[in-house]
Amino acid sequence: MGRSLSFFVVFLSFCWLVNTQSRFTTPTTDRYTSPTCPKTNYGKDEPSKEENLYACKQYQCQSCCGENITMELAQVPLQQIGNVNMDQCSEKHHPLSGACSDEWTYIECFYQCSPNLFPWIGPLKKLHNIPICAKFCDNWFNLCAADYTCVAGEGNWLTGLDKGFNEDGTAKNPCKGGVSCRNYTQVYGSGEKLCNTVWGDLFKYTTDEEHCVDPSDIKHNLDFVKSLNPSYEVNDCTVTPVSYTDAGVIVGIVFGVLAGLLLIAAGVYYFMQRKKANDQPSKKDQPKTEEMTTLRTTSQPAKENPDTPPNTRDQSDVEEA
Ligand SMILES: *[C@@H]1O[C@H](CO)[C@@H](O)[C@H](O)[C@H]1NC(C)=O
Ligand SMILES: *[C@@H]1O[C@H](CO)[C@@H](O)[C@H](O)[C@H]1NC(C)=O
Repeated sequence: MGRSLSFFVVFLSFCWLVNTQSRFTTPTTDRYTSPTCPKTNYGKDEPSKEENLYACKQYQCQSCCGENITMELAQVPLQQIGNVNMDQCSEKHHPLSGACSDEWTYIECFYQCSPNLFPWIGPLKKLHNIPICAKFCDNWFNLCAADYTCVAGEGNWLTGLDKGFNEDGTAKNPCKGGVSCRNYTQVYGSGEKLCNTVWGDLFKYTTDEEHCVDPSDIKHNLDFVKSLNPSYEVNDCTVTPVSYTDAGVIVGIVFGVLAGLLLIAAGVYYFMQRKKANDQPSKKDQPKTEEMTTLRTTSQPAKENPDTPPNTRDQSDVEEA
């Protein structure tokens, strides 16, 4: 009896452990703990600095995507992303709206370029189950609600479109045989369905506002990833390290200020020397009066300028003498 009870307790603690581990859909074993590139169709093997991304500049300091894909992502509305033809229904309906196109660009930049999604890199280095913020999904859905796609079935873009190019290099008609254009409202009906379906198991719609990633809010994502595990290192492109040119500017400012101070000191010294030269005769004549005037004037600073009155008097004395 006592033994089965202790087994039960051990079993319960095990369940609790498993439960806390999987609460935020973080993997139970940390395969990666620092910036890493997932396996994507157009991404690089390792993150590295890019000089001139056309879009996705927010990831430029350490990016998993190269220039080529960002050239396509910089178009508004989007025409082509890799082998996916984004211009699906412009003939029968209308081109992708600018707002819907921008949301796609956020998503694509995030997925193709971010080196900070390593907690969700699984087997074969593929991303999956990224907890994506409900707010982003709802906004994405609302901005695309009246836009059209010819994706088949429930709307999985991995399987529901024809991809690639014709022999003459033009993009293939993305609409599979017999599939007509529907708007996002008809295909998905909600932001939740959109995020959970559009790329298979890539995204997981998450209403916990703190424990989710938002492709339009990098700062939030960095905070979230760091909160998952204190040993995680993230790459933050918003922090620019002090470069040599910055160091040069700082040295310049310091020397400038020093030179300014030196100039002022020299001016004061010159003024004092001149004053001393002017004072000398009167000091010889009446040293006591001079001392007393100085004392008197310094004890009443509010009434008169402590320097000028005795000085002018002395001068007039000299002139009279
Ligand atoms: C980028 O595109 C150019 C021209 O299409 C191609 O030659 C080059 O190999 C591409 N670079 C990468 C890294 O894919
Ligand atoms: C989507 O298409 C349906 C059917 O044509 C139409 O009734 C609906 O108003 C459209 N929704 C939007 C938001 O355009």
